[in-house]
Amino acid sequence: MSKTQDQTFVNTFIGIIILLALIALALAGLSQYTGGTLGHVAEQRAEHERERVLQAIAPVGQVAIAGRDEAPDVVEDDVDPEVAEVEEPAEPEERPAFDAEVAQQINQAACMACHATGVAGSPVTGEEGEWAPRFEERGLDGLVNNVISGMGAMPPRGGADADDTELRWVVIWMLEEAGLAVDY
Ligand code: HEC
Repeated sequence: MSKTQDQTFVNTFIGIIILLALIALALAGLSQYTGGTLGHVAEQRAEHERERVLQAIAPVGQVAIAGRDEAPDVVEDDVDPEVAEVEEPAEPEERPAFDAEVAQQINQAACMACHATGVAGSPVTGEEGEWAPRFEERGLDGLVNNVISGMGAMPPRGGADADDTELRWVVIWMLEEAGLAVDY
């Protein structure tokens, strides 16, 4: 090979190397760009998928209790009336107001026979000392339950033809006769 041939070869060789280097740089730049873009797309897709799953597993309804901060604002139009009815907070059990007259009638008809004089160890009507310890120990509900089920010589329901509410009234009346303050 002549010297000029050598020189041409070297020049061409250097040219090719520079070209390859440029191509490599271009490819690196391209992959950086597409990699970044694709990564972004994948991230968006994952985020989208996460939202979809959260929606799918979200609870069907939410119990709203009026007056609570976390209760969501209900948009009337959005609510199926039947569902809305189910979500209404339950009304507290309605109990007819204390009727002292009915209580006295039942007492006269059934309870007085024992409680007026303390037959068989029954607490005497109007004697605070005999009623206070029982009331303190069991409360109104406890006393009423014992009358309903019967206790010692006292027959179930005190032998009266009265419902649970009426028996409750008689017990309230008895406690008040004994001078005890009853919260009912
Ligand atoms: C046959 C008699 C008799 C009759 C009738 C009767 N009682 Fe009694 N009662 C008793 C006796 C005895 C006790 C005490 C039982 C004991 O302490 O073991 C008692 C206890 C009670 C007590 C207290 C219960 C407790 O937990 O301490 C209440 C309240 C009461 N009677 C209400 C009534 C009412 C109301 C009626 C009518 C509806 C009634 N009784 C009718 C005999 C009677």
